[in-house]
Amino acid sequence: MTNSPELPSDVKELDEWQRALRAQFPIVTAHPDLAYLDSAATAQKPRPVLDAVQTYLTTSNANAGRGTYPWANRTTALVEQTRDLVREFLDDPAPERSAVHFTSGTTEGLRTVARDWLPNFLADGDEIVVPVADHRANIDPWTETQRLLARQGVHVRVVAMPYQQASGDYDHTALARLAGPRTRFVAVTHVHHVYGGDMNVHRIRGAVGPDAVICLDAAQSVGHLPVSVAGLDVDFVAFSGHKALALPGTGAVWARQARGPAFVPGGWSGTPNTVGIVSLAAALDWLRAAGTDRIERWTVALAARLTDGLRDLDAYEVVGCRTSLAADSPVQRRRGIVTFRHRDIRSGDLGFILFSHGFMVRCDHHCQGSAGERSESVRVSLHVHNTVEEIERLLSVLGALG
Ligand code: ALA
Repeated sequence: MTNSPELPSDVKELDEWQRALRAQFPIVTAHPDLAYLDSAATAQKPRPVLDAVQTYLTTSNANAGRGTYPWANRTTALVEQTRDLVREFLDDPAPERSAVHFTSGTTEGLRTVARDWLPNFLADGDEIVVPVADHRANIDPWTETQRLLARQGVHVRVVAMPYQQASGDYDHTALARLAGPRTRFVAVTHVHHVYGGDMNVHRIRGAVGPDAVICLDAAQSVGHLPVSVAGLDVDFVAFSGHKALALPGTGAVWARQARGPAFVPGGWSGTPNTVGIVSLAAALDWLRAAGTDRIERWTVALAARLTDGLRDLDAYEVVGCRTSLAADSPVQRRRGIVTFRHRDIRSGDLGFILFSHGFMVRCDHHCQGSAGERSESVRVSLHVHNTVEEIERLLSVLGALG
C-alpha cells in the first residue's frame, strides 16, 4: 500500500514519515483490511506506549506517594515527572505557578473545575458563558454548578454562547456584545467534536475582556495538533489522555493559577491511575518526537480531501463548515474530523454498511448539546496512521451508494 500517487501536494514530503509512524500501531498493522476512523472517540496506541505500560508493570508497579521502597519511590517520581511533561507539552510559560491534576478524561476534568473551583469564584449576579452546541461534557458540569449555587441562594446567569450558523464557529462579535462586567467565566472548546473546526479560541479573550476566566475543552486537540497555553490566554485546559494515544481512563486538567482562587481539587483522591499516567508520559513523548505540527498537517490534508470529495457527491450533506478552507483562511479550518449525512440512508444504517467495507466510524448524535444538530450523522475522525488510500476508498464506497 502506498500513499504517494494521490497524496495532496502540501503533505507529499510527509509520506515516509507517516508510513514509519503508521507501522508503530500494532492494532492497525494487524488489520490491513480495516480502517479505524474513530480517533475522536478514542485513539489507537503506538508500540512505545504499550511497551512503557508493560515495562512499568513488570519492573516497578507500586502505589505513588506512599511507600518508601524503590518501586514506590520510582512510581511517585513518574507521576510528578508526568505533571511536568504535561506542562511542557502544553508549552506552559510559567510552570512554577501552574497546577496539573490527573483525571480519567476531559469530562471528569471539566466537572472537577465546575465542582471544586467554580463555586469559590462566582458571586450572586455573575454570568457564565456556556457553549450550548458543543459536547455535553462542556455544558452539563456548568449548569449543574449553577443549580447547586442556586440552592445556596447564589444566582448565576447562564449565557448561551452564540454560534455562526454556516460554519458552526463561535460568533465572536456577538459574544463581545453579550459579554459585560458580570461575565466571569467562559467555557469553550478548542476543536469541535462534530463540526471538526478549530473554534478560533484565541479570539475569545478579545471578546470577553482581560478578567474573565476561560476554560478550554481540548479533548479533540491535545494529541492531534500543537496546543500552546503560551499562545492561548486561557486559564484551564482539560484533555483526555486516551484520545492522545494513552490508555483509557487517563486525562488531565492544567490550571494557570493566574485569575481567581487557586485550583485545588477537593477531597482525598486515593490511589492515582499510575499505569495510565505512565502511558500518558509515553504518549506525550511519542507525540513530541513525531511532531504534533506534522500530525496536524497530515490529518488536516486528509480531512480536506474527504470534505471536498463529499461536496462532489450529491447524496451527502457535510455537517458544519461545508468547505475544507484554504490554509490561510482567517476563519476556522476543519481539523481531522469530518461529519456528514446521506440524503436517504439513516446514519446508523450507513455505519453498518461502512463497517461491511471495513470502515469504523461513529454514527449518532455524538453527545452534542441540545442546541446542536437535530438529526444523527456519521463522523469520520483521523489520526496519523490513516492514509489517503483509506480516504479514497471511503469516498468510492460512499459514491457507490448513490
Ligand atoms: N467525546 C468522545 C467523542 O466525541 C467520546 O466521541
